[in-house]
Amino acid sequence: MHGNIGPTELRALGLKREDLLDFSASISPIGPPEGVWNAMRSVDLSSYPDPECLELRETICRHLSTSSRQISIGRVFVGNGSTEIFHLLTRVYLAGRPDNGIALLMTPTYGEYDGACRLAGAKILNLVADAAKDFSWDLGAAAKLISENKPNIVIICNPNNPTGVYLDPQEIEILADATRDAGGLLVVDEAYLAFVAEPWDSLALMDRPEVMLVRSMTKDYAQTALRLGYALASEEVVTRLRAFQPDWSVNSLAQKAGVSALEDTEYLPRAREAVFSAKDFLSGELKSIGLEIPNSEANFILVKVGDAAKWRSLLLAKGLVVRDCTSFGLPEFIRVGIRPLSDCQRLATAMTQVSETVR
Ligand SMILES: Cc1ncc(COP(=O)(O)O)c(C=O)c1O
Repeated sequence: MHGNIGPTELRALGLKREDLLDFSASISPIGPPEGVWNAMRSVDLSSYPDPECLELRETICRHLSTSSRQISIGRVFVGNGSTEIFHLLTRVYLAGRPDNGIALLMTPTYGEYDGACRLAGAKILNLVADAAKDFSWDLGAAAKLISENKPNIVIICNPNNPTGVYLDPQEIEILADATRDAGGLLVVDEAYLAFVAEPWDSLALMDRPEVMLVRSMTKDYAQTALRLGYALASEEVVTRLRAFQPDWSVNSLAQKAGVSALEDTEYLPRAREAVFSAKDFLSGELKSIGLEIPNSEANFILVKVGDAAKWRSLLLAKGLVVRDCTSFGLPEFIRVGIRPLSDCQRLATAMTQVSETVR
């Protein structure tokens, strides 16, 4: 269901995961912070996890609060990966309604939103970005669609997966105003925000009760295996999500690792530097062999290769996994997550060879 290579395909191809370099997931390229291993060793495996994730929520509040803005614990919700948060959200805001509600998605985007809305039985509206205009959306058209259809939720991924488009505060406010006037909730998925070179202060959006921010800790800190994400929203929204979340959904190892990762304040600057230098290198190399790369503000790039499925399989034969974007409706593009520089060097060499064979 997700774009990366699954165990069944690996077996069919006679490959082992450890023999592959996976560029299909876009996570911090420097591995998890050292301290998380020790932190996890302190977990008592015979005790149930804290269902309220108290210590982690307190740490998130400390991490995000500044002298001018305090984030209160009642506005923080922790999930088993941000994926769980999207599924809870659609159950609370869509499935609970007599008509199963309406969702507006800004596409092409992360497929799980559509999947979760479908499971809720909702009517799904898509506002499709214009590929000819750097995958930008017509936000005036989005506002009109919202005011005419009154969706219960509007989901925007910022920066967007897979296009890397990053909306500025004014653009998000157009969506927020329209969603507020329609009585809905604007969900801003910031899964890749940590790797934007010049992010704006989206926490200012917490002054708006109609906005919810969702963040993934699995990508920032390279701990996708643990499943950890959080949402920042009004107390009312947090209470509603909590009511639908099974107790102990977020296990103790993930909670401890999350606290430890957030306390390692030197980690993210290092991870960001690693992304920026490897991304510059890879983009430069691929452009130099004539491949088109739309601007991306995230820690992945789209590459226009022509036949994405073919490129994926040719690169897989060289031990490199990239994301074929056909399921996003972009069959001419692959998405490449930024890995350490040496891995990107290997990919650049392999893509140069592939480009010579497919021409
Ligand atoms: C945009 C986006 N949001 C959320 C997620 C899910 O992240 P998590 O690991 O926190 O469930 C992904 C995973 O690929 C993603 O691309």
